[in-house]
Amino acid sequence: MADQRPSATPLASIEAVESGLAAQGYIASRQIATAVYLSEKIAKPILVEGPAGVGKTELAKAIASWRGLKMIRLQCYEGLDEAKALYEWKYAKQLLYTQILKDKLGEVLGGAQTLHAALDQLHDFGDVFFSKEFVEPRPLLQALEQPGGCVLLIDEIDKSDAEFESLLLEILSDFQVSIPELGTIAAAMPPTVILTSNSERNLGDALKRRCLHLHIGFPEQKLEERIVESRVAGISQTLRRQLVGFIHEIRTLDLKKQPSVSETIDWARVLVLLEATELGHDMVRDTLNVLLKYESDVEAALPHVTTFVAKAARQNVFG
Ligand SMILES: Nc1ncnc2c1ncn2[C@@H]1O[C@H](COP(=O)(O)OP(=O)(O)O)[C@@H](O)[C@H]1O
Ligand SMILES: [Mg+2]
Repeated sequence: MADQRPSATPLASIEAVESGLAAQGYIASRQIATAVYLSEKIAKPILVEGPAGVGKTELAKAIASWRGLKMIRLQCYEGLDEAKALYEWKYAKQLLYTQILKDKLGEVLGGAQTLHAALDQLHDFGDVFFSKEFVEPRPLLQALEQPGGCVLLIDEIDKSDAEFESLLLEILSDFQVSIPELGTIAAAMPPTVILTSNSERNLGDALKRRCLHLHIGFPEQKLEERIVESRVAGISQTLRRQLVGFIHEIRTLDLKKQPSVSETIDWARVLVLLEATELGHDMVRDTLNVLLKYESDVEAALPHVTTFVAKAARQNVFG
């Protein structure tokens, strides 16, 4: 596929994917980079599953900006249908056209000698109403129509209804759609397709079969440190290591909502703002609400703060 896209940065190797994404600030694990590489080589969409805030959406954005491709995003929600995802008829334009046609009817039908001929002429106009001219392309169709290819992000597919998945199957396997009035529209250039899911519901087998599966969980400590380094300017190495160490301790607790990478980044920014150079008990206690989103989780974590801060500090020395 890469060879067909003269303008997009080609994927030379898994390492090239890693460094290309890193240049956009996205620190990919080997597993993520491999999935991106393979997806392009075998022209299959990637279905990215994992908890909120681990970089699923950002992965699609980073691929697009690295490769110089436009990103088209379809945000899924309950009730999302074909008219919002694929295409809609331009009703207002059709109405306007009807009005003009009505005014011109005499002129148009003037030449027709018989009723049959008049009907034939009207029929030709009917076809015009359901032609490309009157189609409003929505994200899926827009993606197929990009002459230079694009990254199509179908975000949070698990939020849409199960029936919506069937609409995607043809696009995901053949990069084309069939519209009854228009026929089959094939992609000008097959898009790079990323689907994401927070696993709020199980996805259908037909959809899964068409995709490479990639699970992104919470990153290992070293990787998360690199993510913080990439995203948070002006943070000391000591603080970076300690705060990531602390978060890894917090994640061992039984919480309603575990802090994700996005919370790690937010917390790191807050601590830098407070001019911290290393983790301290009071500062942690006062900023726990940046990390934990439920009062019950804050209460569950508070008794452990002293131990976790100490552990994080020790790790800094030996780690
Ligand atoms: N591997 C990563 N490298 C750089 N930034 C990351 C990484 N993973 C997550 N982030 C950052 O964390 C935040 C949440 O990422 P996002 O893609 O919105 O999460 P998700 O879509 O999984 O809920 C974003 O600000 C993103 O830039
Ligand atoms: Mg997201």
